[in-house]
Amino acid sequence: MFAKMKSIGAYIPEKILTNKDLEKIVDTDDEWITKRTGIKTRHIAEDEVTSDLAYKAALDALKNADMDANEIDMIILATISPDYFTMPSTACVVADKLGIVRPAVDIAAACTGFIYALAQAKAFIESGMYKNILIIGAETISKIVNWKDRTTCVLFGDGAGAAIINATENKEEAIIDIDINADGKYQDYLITPGRGVKYGCETDRIWLEMKGNETFKVAVKTLSQSVRDILERNNLTSDDIDWFVPHQANYRIIDAVARAIKMPKEKSILTVHKYGNTSSASIPMAINEMAKKGKIKKGDLMLLDAFGGGFTWGSALVPFN
Ligand code: UT7
Repeated sequence: MFAKMKSIGAYIPEKILTNKDLEKIVDTDDEWITKRTGIKTRHIAEDEVTSDLAYKAALDALKNADMDANEIDMIILATISPDYFTMPSTACVVADKLGIVRPAVDIAAACTGFIYALAQAKAFIESGMYKNILIIGAETISKIVNWKDRTTCVLFGDGAGAAIINATENKEEAIIDIDINADGKYQDYLITPGRGVKYGCETDRIWLEMKGNETFKVAVKTLSQSVRDILERNNLTSDDIDWFVPHQANYRIIDAVARAIKMPKEKSILTVHKYGNTSSASIPMAINEMAKKGKIKKGDLMLLDAFGGGFTWGSALVPFN
């Protein structure tokens, strides 16, 4: 039994925050943000929390798969901005919103969360344990950034993406390979330092903090290695890839990794200018957008990559169905 990506869906909150809007909040300017990151706008959830975004993305993925929520065997949700501190998981809240009683779990792999969720769904399906798994990357990072810190608040945005991963006997449409990694020696580089038991469960230090420049360098190095490895071990080159769908943190990281594997510019999907860095949601949001525009078509081979806090990083070779 193989696992395939049967459908994709997304939900993006309405409110748009432009670089010009940010100029009124922190000491920054449109030129700096555009030049260093490629970001022009990001969407912000006002009255919604992460489970609301996740639920709407899940409904979209279910609709696109022509499936009912009752057909789902399990929910795996990746987020760094969960509804609750430790419990219940946001996945449980989403299961309730969908009206189903099923195994549901959150995973914390930061911006690599969607690729980790994909890997877990693939393993559950290939083991024969489940047939249909709903995976979700959902974030309201606007609620955990420090709006006084110009080095981070300009970078992130809110949104959610979801996919139905299901069992297939057809190898042609199956996920080919997934590469996931983590190295905890970088734990302080990208962190929400408060909250946990280590800090007496502080609730006033929830802000995301990042050593941006150092993170950038490790991201380019590890991602380039991961995409090179996954292509090589599957005897593929960038010529065999129809779409490079990278995590959308910074167009300069995307460009550097694409150059490392000689990926032509026109195959790289870029949405960072519109949505900023939406962490675990960025890859499914990007796939969804290109699919809805009719650019990604059935049978196209996608190369995904992502990097985030932990550090965690990874890549995946996924045919679009
Ligand atoms: O998705 C999870 C993983 N995250 C990432 O992969 C993000 C990785 N990092 C990056 O994308 C980039 O490092 C940033 C976009 C965060 C920063 O770009 P940079 O080219 O690495 O800039 P920098 O941190 O070296 O800062 C350069 C200057 C500094 O001023 P001085 O010390 O040179 O005077 C910063 O204080 O830019 C200043 N700066 C800003 N200026 C205007 C930092 N943030 C801003 C800002 N507006 N918003």
